[in-house]
Amino acid sequence: MSSETLIIQAGLSERPRKSRWPAKLDILQSVSGLLLALFMWGHMFFVATILLGYDTMWEVSRFFEGYYIFGKSHPWIVSIVVACVAVIFIVHAAMAVRKFPSNYRQLKVFRAHAKSMRHGDTTLWIWQVYTGFAMFFMASAHLYQMMVWPQNIGPFGSGDRMWSDGLWPFYLVMLLAVELHGGIGLYRLAVKWCWPNVSRTFLKNLKWAITAFFLILGFATLAAYMKVGYEHRLHYGEPYTPIWAEPHHAAVEGVTK
Ligand code: HEM
Repeated sequence: MSSETLIIQAGLSERPRKSRWPAKLDILQSVSGLLLALFMWGHMFFVATILLGYDTMWEVSRFFEGYYIFGKSHPWIVSIVVACVAVIFIVHAAMAVRKFPSNYRQLKVFRAHAKSMRHGDTTLWIWQVYTGFAMFFMASAHLYQMMVWPQNIGPFGSGDRMWSDGLWPFYLVMLLAVELHGGIGLYRLAVKWCWPNVSRTFLKNLKWAITAFFLILGFATLAAYMKVGYEHRLHYGEPYTPIWAEPHHAAVEGVTK
Protein backbone atom coordinates (compact mmCIF):
# COMPACT_ATOMS: atom_id res chain seq x y z
CA MET A 1 0.00 0.00 0.00
CA SER A 2 1.48 3.38 -0.97
CA SER A 3 1.93 6.08 1.67
CA GLU A 4 -0.45 8.28 -0.32
CA THR A 5 -3.23 5.66 -0.11
CA LEU A 6 -2.58 5.29 3.62
CA ILE A 7 -2.90 9.06 4.13
CA ILE A 8 -6.16 9.14 2.16
CA GLN A 9 -7.58 6.12 4.02
CA ALA A 10 -6.71 7.63 7.38
CA GLY A 11 -8.56 10.81 6.37
CA LEU A 12 -5.38 12.88 6.75
CA SER A 13 -5.45 14.21 3.19
CA GLU A 14 -8.20 16.68 4.14
CA ARG A 15 -6.08 18.29 6.84
CA PRO A 16 -5.04 21.86 6.01
CA ARG A 17 -1.46 21.27 7.19
CA LYS A 18 0.61 18.48 8.67
CA SER A 19 1.07 18.65 12.43
CA ARG A 20 4.20 17.69 14.39
CA TRP A 21 2.18 16.94 17.52
CA PRO A 22 1.44 13.26 16.84
CA ALA A 23 5.19 12.64 16.46
CA LYS A 24 5.97 14.59 19.66
CA LEU A 25 3.33 12.70 21.62
CA ASP A 26 4.70 9.46 20.21
CA ILE A 27 8.14 10.29 21.58
CA LEU A 28 6.60 11.11 24.96
CA GLN A 29 4.82 7.76 24.92
CA SER A 30 8.04 5.92 24.09
CA VAL A 31 10.13 7.74 26.70
CA SER A 32 7.55 7.28 29.47
CA GLY A 33 7.20 3.60 28.49
CA LEU A 34 10.96 3.10 28.60
CA LEU A 35 11.19 4.74 32.04
CA LEU A 36 8.39 2.52 33.37
CA ALA A 37 9.99 -0.63 31.91
CA LEU A 38 13.37 0.22 33.49
CA PHE A 39 11.62 1.01 36.78
CA MET A 40 9.83 -2.36 36.61
CA TRP A 41 13.12 -4.26 36.20
CA GLY A 42 14.46 -2.59 39.34
CA HIS A 43 11.13 -3.06 41.14
CA MET A 44 11.04 -6.81 40.40
CA PHE A 45 14.55 -7.27 41.82
CA PHE A 46 13.79 -5.22 44.95
CA VAL A 47 10.54 -7.08 45.60
CA ALA A 48 12.29 -10.41 44.94
CA THR A 49 14.74 -9.81 47.80
CA ILE A 50 12.25 -11.76 49.94
CA LEU A 51 13.78 -14.83 48.26
CA LEU A 52 17.06 -13.97 50.00
CA GLY A 53 15.45 -13.82 53.43
CA TYR A 54 13.28 -11.62 55.65
CA ASP A 55 16.18 -9.46 56.78
CA THR A 56 17.29 -8.63 53.23
CA MET A 57 13.78 -7.55 52.19
CA TRP A 58 13.39 -5.56 55.41
CA GLU A 59 16.74 -3.80 54.83
CA VAL A 60 15.84 -2.91 51.23
CA SER A 61 12.46 -1.54 52.34
CA ARG A 62 14.05 0.56 55.09
CA PHE A 63 16.74 1.75 52.67
CA PHE A 64 14.06 3.37 50.50
CA GLU A 65 12.65 5.03 53.64
CA GLY A 66 16.01 6.71 54.28
CA TYR A 67 16.73 4.61 57.40
CA TYR A 68 20.45 4.35 56.64
CA ILE A 69 20.81 8.08 55.98
CA PHE A 70 18.63 9.59 58.71
CA GLY A 71 18.92 6.72 61.24
CA LYS A 72 15.11 6.61 61.26
CA SER A 73 12.47 5.43 58.76
CA HIS A 74 10.54 8.05 56.79
CA PRO A 75 7.89 6.18 54.76
CA TRP A 76 6.77 9.47 53.14
CA ILE A 77 9.95 9.27 51.00
CA VAL A 78 8.45 6.15 49.42
CA SER A 79 5.15 8.01 48.95
CA ILE A 80 7.01 10.71 46.98
CA VAL A 81 8.74 8.10 44.77
CA VAL A 82 5.39 6.38 44.17
CA ALA A 83 3.80 9.72 43.26
CA CYS A 84 6.57 10.31 40.66
CA VAL A 85 6.04 6.84 39.19
CA ALA A 86 2.28 7.50 39.14
CA VAL A 87 2.81 10.73 37.16
CA ILE A 88 4.89 8.85 34.54
CA PHE A 89 2.26 6.10 34.50
CA ILE A 90 -0.56 8.59 33.92
CA VAL A 91 1.37 10.37 31.14
CA HIS A 92 2.07 7.02 29.48
CA ALA A 93 -1.56 5.91 29.75
CA ALA A 94 -2.82 9.25 28.41
CA MET A 95 -0.52 8.98 25.39
CA ALA A 96 -1.45 5.34 24.80
CA VAL A 97 -5.20 5.88 24.99
CA ARG A 98 -5.01 7.95 21.78
CA LYS A 99 -4.34 4.72 19.92
CA PHE A 100 -6.89 2.46 21.57
CA PRO A 101 -9.82 1.38 19.37
CA SER A 102 -12.46 3.79 20.66
CA ASN A 103 -15.54 1.67 20.02
CA TYR A 104 -16.53 -1.91 19.34
CA ARG A 105 -16.73 -1.33 15.60
CA GLN A 106 -13.12 -0.12 15.46
CA LEU A 107 -11.99 -3.11 17.51
CA LYS A 108 -13.83 -5.46 15.13
CA VAL A 109 -12.24 -3.83 12.08
CA PHE A 110 -8.82 -4.07 13.70
CA ARG A 111 -9.31 -7.74 14.58
CA ALA A 112 -10.41 -8.58 11.03
CA HIS A 113 -7.45 -6.62 9.68
CA ALA A 114 -5.00 -8.44 11.99
CA LYS A 115 -6.51 -11.82 11.08
CA SER A 116 -6.22 -11.20 7.35
CA MET A 117 -2.63 -9.89 7.65
CA ARG A 118 -1.42 -12.66 9.97
CA HIS A 119 1.45 -10.40 10.96
CA GLY A 120 3.01 -11.29 14.32
CA ASP A 121 3.74 -7.70 15.33
CA THR A 122 0.14 -6.62 14.68
CA THR A 123 -1.10 -9.46 16.90
CA LEU A 124 1.38 -8.40 19.58
CA TRP A 125 -0.01 -4.87 19.42
CA ILE A 126 -3.53 -6.00 20.31
CA TRP A 127 -2.10 -7.83 23.34
CA GLN A 128 -0.48 -4.55 24.25
CA VAL A 129 -3.95 -2.95 24.21
CA TYR A 130 -5.57 -5.70 26.35
CA THR A 131 -2.81 -5.79 28.97
CA GLY A 132 -2.55 -1.99 29.00
CA PHE A 133 -6.29 -1.76 29.61
CA ALA A 134 -6.03 -4.17 32.55
CA MET A 135 -3.21 -2.11 34.02
CA PHE A 136 -5.21 1.10 33.97
CA PHE A 137 -7.12 -0.36 36.90
CA MET A 138 -4.65 -2.72 38.52
CA ALA A 139 -1.54 -0.51 38.56
CA SER A 140 -3.65 2.46 39.72
CA ALA A 141 -4.96 0.46 42.69
CA HIS A 142 -1.47 -0.86 43.52
CA LEU A 143 0.17 2.55 43.28
CA TYR A 144 -2.53 4.11 45.44
CA GLN A 145 -2.01 1.46 48.12
CA MET A 146 1.79 1.88 48.05
CA MET A 147 1.51 5.66 48.19
CA VAL A 148 -1.00 5.88 51.03
CA TRP A 149 0.33 3.04 53.23
CA PRO A 150 4.09 2.88 52.50
CA GLN A 151 4.79 1.93 56.12
CA ASN A 152 3.17 -1.46 55.47
CA ILE A 153 5.88 -2.52 53.03
CA GLY A 154 8.04 -5.25 54.55
CA PRO A 155 8.27 -9.04 54.82
CA PHE A 156 5.20 -9.41 57.06
CA GLY A 157 3.25 -6.40 55.74
CA SER A 158 3.63 -7.55 52.13
CA GLY A 159 3.06 -11.23 53.04
CA ASP A 160 -0.12 -10.29 54.96
CA ARG A 161 -1.35 -8.31 51.97
CA MET A 162 -0.84 -11.27 49.68
CA TRP A 163 -2.36 -13.89 51.97
CA SER A 164 -4.63 -12.49 54.69
CA ASP A 165 -5.89 -9.58 52.57
CA GLY A 166 -6.40 -12.09 49.73
CA LEU A 167 -4.59 -10.01 47.11
CA TRP A 168 -2.50 -12.80 45.56
CA PRO A 169 -4.92 -13.41 42.61
CA PHE A 170 -4.78 -9.67 41.92
CA TYR A 171 -0.95 -9.73 41.92
CA LEU A 172 -0.92 -12.86 39.77
CA VAL A 173 -2.98 -11.22 37.01
CA MET A 174 -1.06 -7.94 37.32
CA LEU A 175 2.26 -9.80 37.08
CA LEU A 176 1.19 -11.48 33.82
CA ALA A 177 -0.16 -8.21 32.43
CA VAL A 178 2.88 -6.11 33.33
CA GLU A 179 5.46 -8.60 32.10
CA LEU A 180 3.69 -9.20 28.77
CA HIS A 181 3.05 -5.50 28.32
CA GLY A 182 6.60 -4.46 29.23
CA GLY A 183 8.22 -7.16 27.07
CA ILE A 184 6.13 -6.33 24.01
CA GLY A 185 6.59 -2.60 24.64
CA LEU A 186 10.40 -2.84 24.77
CA TYR A 187 10.42 -4.99 21.64
CA ARG A 188 8.32 -2.41 19.81
CA LEU A 189 10.60 0.39 21.02
CA ALA A 190 13.66 -1.49 19.75
CA VAL A 191 12.08 -2.05 16.33
CA LYS A 192 10.82 1.52 16.11
CA TRP A 193 13.70 3.62 17.38
CA CYS A 194 16.83 1.64 18.15
CA TRP A 195 17.64 -1.38 16.08
CA PRO A 196 15.46 -1.42 12.97
CA ASN A 197 18.28 -3.26 11.19
CA VAL A 198 18.62 -6.10 13.69
CA SER A 199 16.60 -9.20 12.71
CA ARG A 200 13.13 -9.25 14.24
CA THR A 201 13.51 -12.94 15.00
CA PHE A 202 16.50 -12.14 17.22
CA LEU A 203 14.64 -9.29 18.93
CA LYS A 204 11.58 -11.47 19.47
CA ASN A 205 13.65 -14.27 21.00
CA LEU A 206 15.35 -11.74 23.27
CA LYS A 207 11.95 -10.35 24.25
CA TRP A 208 10.59 -13.80 25.15
CA ALA A 209 13.76 -14.64 27.10
CA ILE A 210 13.43 -11.43 29.17
CA THR A 211 9.69 -11.97 29.71
CA ALA A 212 10.26 -15.61 30.76
CA PHE A 213 13.02 -14.56 33.19
CA PHE A 214 10.87 -11.92 34.92
CA LEU A 215 7.81 -14.17 34.98
CA ILE A 216 9.74 -16.99 36.66
CA LEU A 217 11.28 -14.53 39.13
CA GLY A 218 7.82 -13.00 39.69
CA PHE A 219 6.07 -16.34 40.30
CA ALA A 220 8.79 -17.41 42.75
CA THR A 221 8.47 -14.06 44.55
CA LEU A 222 4.68 -14.29 44.67
CA ALA A 223 4.89 -17.82 46.09
CA ALA A 224 7.40 -16.63 48.71
CA TYR A 225 5.11 -13.80 49.90
CA MET A 226 2.14 -16.15 50.01
CA LYS A 227 4.13 -18.55 52.19
CA VAL A 228 5.26 -15.74 54.52
CA GLY A 229 1.67 -14.46 54.70
CA TYR A 230 0.26 -17.92 55.39
CA GLU A 231 2.75 -18.60 58.19
CA HIS A 232 2.11 -15.15 59.65
CA ARG A 233 -1.70 -15.26 59.37
CA LEU A 234 -2.28 -15.57 63.13
CA HIS A 235 -0.19 -12.45 63.75
CA TYR A 236 -1.75 -10.41 60.96
CA GLY A 237 -0.75 -6.75 61.12
CA GLU A 238 2.39 -7.19 63.23
CA PRO A 239 5.40 -5.75 61.38
CA TYR A 240 8.70 -7.58 61.01
CA THR A 241 11.76 -6.30 62.85
CA PRO A 242 15.13 -8.10 62.72
CA ILE A 243 16.43 -9.05 66.16
CA TRP A 244 19.41 -6.70 65.88
CA ALA A 245 17.11 -3.73 65.18
CA GLU A 246 14.76 -4.30 68.14
CA PRO A 247 15.11 -1.30 70.49
CA HIS A 248 16.17 -3.18 73.63
CA HIS A 249 18.65 -5.34 71.67
CA ALA A 250 20.13 -2.33 69.90
CA ALA A 251 20.48 -0.52 73.23
CA VAL A 252 22.21 -3.47 74.96
CA GLU A 253 24.53 -4.22 72.04
CA GLY A 254 25.13 -0.59 71.10
CA VAL A 255 24.01 -1.36 67.55
CA THR A 256 23.75 1.79 65.48
CA LYS A 257 23.11 0.21 62.07
C1 HEM B 1 7.13 3.20 43.38
C2 HEM B 1 6.07 2.46 43.03
C3 HEM B 1 5.89 1.04 43.50
C4 HEM B 1 6.18 0.49 44.73
C5 HEM B 1 6.77 1.16 45.96
C6 HEM B 1 5.81 -0.91 44.65
C7 HEM B 1 5.98 -1.82 45.66
C8 HEM B 1 5.64 -3.15 45.63
C9 HEM B 1 5.76 -4.08 46.72
C10 HEM B 1 6.29 -3.73 48.11
C11 HEM B 1 5.34 -5.28 46.30
C12 HEM B 1 5.26 -6.58 47.14
C13 HEM B 1 3.83 -6.87 47.50
C14 HEM B 1 3.21 -5.83 48.43
O1 HEM B 1 3.84 -5.36 49.38
O2 HEM B 1 2.04 -5.50 48.20
C15 HEM B 1 4.96 -5.14 44.91
C16 HEM B 1 4.54 -6.15 44.10
C17 HEM B 1 4.21 -5.99 42.77
N1 HEM B 1 4.14 -4.82 42.07
FE1 HEM B 1 4.71 -3.01 42.71
N2 HEM B 1 5.31 -1.18 43.41
C18 HEM B 1 5.34 -0.02 42.68
C19 HEM B 1 4.91 0.15 41.37
C20 HEM B 1 4.44 -0.85 40.55
C21 HEM B 1 3.99 -0.66 39.20
C22 HEM B 1 3.95 0.66 38.42
C23 HEM B 1 3.62 -1.88 38.76
C24 HEM B 1 3.10 -2.19 37.39
C25 HEM B 1 1.92 -2.57 37.18
C26 HEM B 1 3.83 -2.85 39.84
C27 HEM B 1 3.56 -4.20 39.75
C28 HEM B 1 3.76 -5.11 40.78
C29 HEM B 1 3.57 -6.53 40.64
C30 HEM B 1 3.15 -7.26 39.38
C31 HEM B 1 3.87 -7.09 41.89
C32 HEM B 1 3.86 -8.58 42.23
C33 HEM B 1 5.30 -9.05 42.04
C34 HEM B 1 5.45 -10.53 42.24
O3 HEM B 1 4.59 -11.16 42.79
O4 HEM B 1 6.50 -11.04 41.86
N3 HEM B 1 4.32 -2.18 40.90
N4 HEM B 1 5.14 -3.84 44.53
